Amino acid sequence: MSREVPAAPRTAAVVPAAGRGVRLGPGAPKALRTLSGTPMLVHAVRAMARSRAVSVVVVVAPPDGAADVRRLLDGHALPGTTEILVVPGGETRQESVRLGLAALPADVDVVLVHDAARPLVPVETVDAVAAAVRAGAPAVVPALPLADTVKQVEPRAAGEPEPVVGTPERARLRAVQTPQGFDRAVLDKAHATVVLGGEGATDDAGMVERLGVEVVVVPGHEEAFKVTRPLDLVLAEAVLARRRTTDGY
Ligand code: C5P
Repeated sequence: MSREVPAAPRTAAVVPAAGRGVRLGPGAPKALRTLSGTPMLVHAVRAMARSRAVSVVVVVAPPDGAADVRRLLDGHALPGTTEILVVPGGETRQESVRLGLAALPADVDVVLVHDAARPLVPVETVDAVAAAVRAGAPAVVPALPLADTVKQVEPRAAGEPEPVVGTPERARLRAVQTPQGFDRAVLDKAHATVVLGGEGATDDAGMVERLGVEVVVVPGHEEAFKVTRPLDLVLAEAVLARRRTTDGY
């Protein structure tokens, strides 16, 4: 009698891409803006698919744009045999990630959450985060030390001087990036139980911290920066130009 061998657990990436990107100025949703002629979202999905650890990518599209995003991804070559799913997103990043998690296949046990707004993350960073979760860490965040000193202020209306209430010790601060990696059950629990008002969580690890689960930091990469403001587009184009000359990317 032949017995079915259970398939090996899989790693998935959820890519929230439903933001409007207003800080970048007027125009298409941020994830659909192009860098070197290719939409940012395609760069981000390629960055996930390039990792041999990742076998499925769930792209969370603007709520009314899932069909367009599907067509867009079908029209661009993606590395490897990675399965790509597209689902509509929500009003906040937290809601979009929750909808992405709900679409994951049952055999996925490790989840990376990666912002479409970080299109140039190197595969080494993706691999390092996935490997740290596989090695037993329930939540892993890539991060870099800060160049600037950070002040905590009492916020006031735009343009008004804001009183400083504290200066955290810079050596103990890290700027966190994505992909953030999680044991799937831990991230599912965080999204099912942690309720935050306003714009919701800006980062999945922060939700996991609220569960009292340990989150660890691994080295991030300067090319994993978030494209937020117009100057970031200039930097991203420069990184792509350098990659073209150095490794024929
Ligand atoms: O706005 P912010 O830059 O923090 O967005 C981070 C990521 O979350 C982006 O990739 C954006 O597309 C995504 N997002 C989303 N759904 C929203 C808001 C943001 O998927 N409602």
